[in-house]
Amino acid sequence: MPIAALTPDMQETFALTDRVVLGIESSCDETAASVLRRHQDGTVTLLSSIIASQDEEHAKFGGVVPEIAARAHMRVVDNVIEQAITEANIDYTELDGIAATAGPGLIGGVIAGLMAAKGLSMALNVPLIGVNHLEGHALSPRLAAPCPFPYLLLLVSGGHSQLLSVKGLGDYERLGSTVDDAAGEAFDKSAKVMDLGFPGGPNVERAALLGNPKAYALPRPFARTGHANFSFAGLKTAVARAWESSDKSDAASADLSASFQQAVCDVVCDRTSNAMDMFLRGAPHEAAPHRFVVAGGVASNHAIRAALEALCEARGFALLAPPLRFCTDNAAMIALAGAERLAAGERSDLSIKARPRWPLDGAAAAANPMSGSGRKGAKS
Ligand code: KG4
Ligand code: ZN
Repeated sequence: MPIAALTPDMQETFALTDRVVLGIESSCDETAASVLRRHQDGTVTLLSSIIASQDEEHAKFGGVVPEIAARAHMRVVDNVIEQAITEANIDYTELDGIAATAGPGLIGGVIAGLMAAKGLSMALNVPLIGVNHLEGHALSPRLAAPCPFPYLLLLVSGGHSQLLSVKGLGDYERLGSTVDDAAGEAFDKSAKVMDLGFPGGPNVERAALLGNPKAYALPRPFARTGHANFSFAGLKTAVARAWESSDKSDAASADLSASFQQAVCDVVCDRTSNAMDMFLRGAPHEAAPHRFVVAGGVASNHAIRAALEALCEARGFALLAPPLRFCTDNAAMIALAGAERLAAGERSDLSIKARPRWPLDGAAAAANPMSGSGRKGAKS
């Protein structure tokens, strides 16, 4: 990504005074804008966070349709930004920086948000910063509470399932990733198979409340391997097979949802425990409790949260789970990551391009691409 350094005096002003940053998010199916104030001491005050969801438009297809998503972002992005400015009770001229997701994500949507950001940056003559959506998730706990580096991060969303050691701004070590589907994708596809509606995660969780988690014997891919990688494709296929041979009743969908959710809980905890070992090997000087953050849409699942809480308790980690509104896609995390990058003296050139793929730990992804590789580059 083309990054130009701020001139030393601009950088100093950015880091040493209160600065107001607009964040724009459009990488999947939420169009979001947020304004926050970054104080001189690095703390932030959230002034607004607006999210326009496209769930209804994608529901009849049982998943996000990229073309529909891109059009919807283009249709509403200006309005969502306007609402964020109004709710923050500021004028556009009070903005000191514009941050927008520049990837990874569905390219049409990313372009829509990034173009809006470029226009505002030019019109207001303030710095633009293209943000990695995953960095937004990685820093999201800091929107709610102090969360010093380093910490172990589990990012489980519709597009990603990763375990990362977050050592500092821009300093991420990938400990594990998915070799095929993301956890949220498995929830969405399982929901589709059982006709539970979109988005699948919350519907599977609701159905699971009435089911027996031991009713179906589903696989736990990569169990007891010692590494921190995930595979959800086989689990999803097992759900489809089990559903086919069931009586397709409400009781069957409740039992299968509960069994599937339990399998995801088990897999997530097993791999997180392995990642905890790796994290501790990398930071032996750190005294307990170590920090463990769970972020991404799947982190809003109560059963998964409870299982991770128990794991943290057993392993001497403190669980930091951002409030649900910061777990799913939002622009506050993009504004935060952008404000941090700007304060560190970075800015993006207006020629910055949207990136469908953009791993956080670029070196690990290039050396050992877990999912997606070749001409388009590694996904994770
Ligand atoms: O982070 P997010 O909003 O968007 C992405 O960046 O992907 O995550 C959306 C994903 C969807 O797959 C959705 O089904 C899943 O998070 N999700 C859940 C729950 N709420 C949302 N999965 C399991 N249980 C939930 N309660
Ligand atoms: Zn996300």
